[in-house]
Amino acid sequence: MINIQEKQADGTLLFGWKSSPPLTPFAPSYTHLFMEKKIFSEEECEEWNEYLLKQEQIILDNFRTSLGDGLTGLGDNSVTSRHPFFNVLEFDFHLAEQLKTKLFDCICCLLNITDNTTWQETLYTTCWFNVLRQGEKMKIHSHAYHNNTFYGFHLTIKATETFTSYYHPIKHQEEAFHVPNKQGYLTLFPNLIPHGVTPNKYETPRITIAGDMYASTIFPLALPKTLIKIGTYNNPK
Ligand SMILES: [Fe+2]
Repeated sequence: MINIQEKQADGTLLFGWKSSPPLTPFAPSYTHLFMEKKIFSEEECEEWNEYLLKQEQIILDNFRTSLGDGLTGLGDNSVTSRHPFFNVLEFDFHLAEQLKTKLFDCICCLLNITDNTTWQETLYTTCWFNVLRQGEKMKIHSHAYHNNTFYGFHLTIKATETFTSYYHPIKHQEEAFHVPNKQGYLTLFPNLIPHGVTPNKYETPRITIAGDMYASTIFPLALPKTLIKIGTYNNPK
């Protein structure tokens, strides 16, 4: 296995695992590539923070049924458990459009880096947010393991001394990236990768925006109302 870690000229960090070249027909062949990039300033995150805390109360009041917390352990009273009911990219908030643009830019960059430039697809994403209050954490979970599996993302809006740990899908705890949650930083990760979050030790809620990206092949399996089109990848190199 080869560890990847490289910084691009614009400060974007690429990290992950790549299989050593297979020497038999049955040896594993994979690239699990992560991308970390700062996309919002501290001031913009403070605006998001205030806005999302208000939205949390509105969502919990409007949608009173939990649809499951995605095995995060956050429970049926969490805004995470309402994630199929809304998409943050549709919120009437002045930074939502900027988030959509950055998400599309970053996934295009990943497709280019991984030499997938001949692939042409319209891309969609779900987008929710998580609020972890003092003592709360996220248990290890993964977002997808099916034939539409693509990329997931996390954007840290507010966090103090928490980490997201990403685990190699086979080598588990033995191989992991423990990534400090930094305000304004977006992480894109292959959606099959197991990950968890350390407990929030502070009174200030830890807030992140998250989502799952898909190609159009996800339809008609997914509900269109939760998926927002972010753009069409058409060899933009
Ligand atoms: Fe997750």
